[in-house]
Amino acid sequence: MRIVLVGPPGAGKGTQATRLAGKLSIPHISTGDLFRANISRQTELGKLAKVSMDAGNLLPDELTIAMAKDRMQQPDAESGFLLDGFPRNVSQAEALDELLKTEAITLDAVLDLEVPEGEVIKRIAGRRICRSGSAHVFHVSYSPPKKQGVCDVCGGELYQRDDDSEETVRKRLEVYHTQTEPIIEYYKTQGLAVTIPSLGPVDEVTRRALEALEREDDGK
Ligand code: AP5
Repeated sequence: MRIVLVGPPGAGKGTQATRLAGKLSIPHISTGDLFRANISRQTELGKLAKVSMDAGNLLPDELTIAMAKDRMQQPDAESGFLLDGFPRNVSQAEALDELLKTEAITLDAVLDLEVPEGEVIKRIAGRRICRSGSAHVFHVSYSPPKKQGVCDVCGGELYQRDDDSEETVRKRLEVYHTQTEPIIEYYKTQGLAVTIPSLGPVDEVTRRALEALEREDDGK
C-alpha cells in the first residue's frame, strides 16, 4: 500500500506510522526523521535543516522533494510506503503526484489524524524521542519508558526535540494551518482523504486507521 499520514504536530503521526508500517510491512518514510538524521550527522543539509526546524518553518520545497523522492526510490519502497510529514503543502503534493504518475503507481489513502490543539500542546510538552534516530517515541505521562531517559526498544538516550518548545510549537501549528491543511482538501477532491480521530488509546487509533485502510481497499 502507498499511504500518506497528515496531521498537526503532535497528532501521533510518528507513533501511528511505526505501528502501521510494521503491520503492513512497508517502510515508514518521515521527512522530519530524515532531516534529524542529517542534523545528527552534521551534514550541510542538516545545518540548513536545523535553522528552519528550530524556527518552526518548513524547509525549501526543492530540497525536501529531492530528499523524499530519493528515499521513495530505494528498493525497500518498491511495493509500498507510508509517508509521514510529506507532502506538507500543495506544491509538494503536486510533485508527489508527478512522481507517482511517472512510475505509473497511485496512492491508496491519505489518513488525516485529527486532534484538538490543547492536546497537541500536552503531547509535545511531554514527548521524548530516542537519540538513535530509530523513530522510537515516548511520552513522560502517556507512554513513559520503563527507565527514565532510556529507550525501551534499543537502550538509546531519550531527549526532547529542540523544536518542541511551546513558542516553536505555536509557530509549527500556524504553519500547519496555513500551508499543510490545504492538502487535505486537495486529497478530498481525489477521493483519498479519510479523517481519523487521534484521541484515545494509541491501540484504538491504530485500529481506526487499519479499519479505514481496509474500507479504502474494499472500495477499489
Ligand atoms: P516532523 O518531524 O514531521 O514534525 P511534526 O509534523 O511537527 O510532527 P511531530 O513529529 O511533532 O508529531 P507527530 O504527529 O509525529 O506526533 P508523535 O507520534 O511524535 O517535522 C519537524 C520539522 O521538520 C518541521 O517543522 C519542518 O521544519 C521540517 N519538515 C519535515 N517535513 C517537511 C516537509 N515535508 N517540508 C518541509 N519541511 C519539513 O506524538 C507526539 C506525542 O504524543 C508523543 O510523545 C506520543 O507518545 C504521544 N502520543 C501519540 N499518540 C497518542 C495518543 N493516542 N494518546 C496519548 N499520547 C499520544
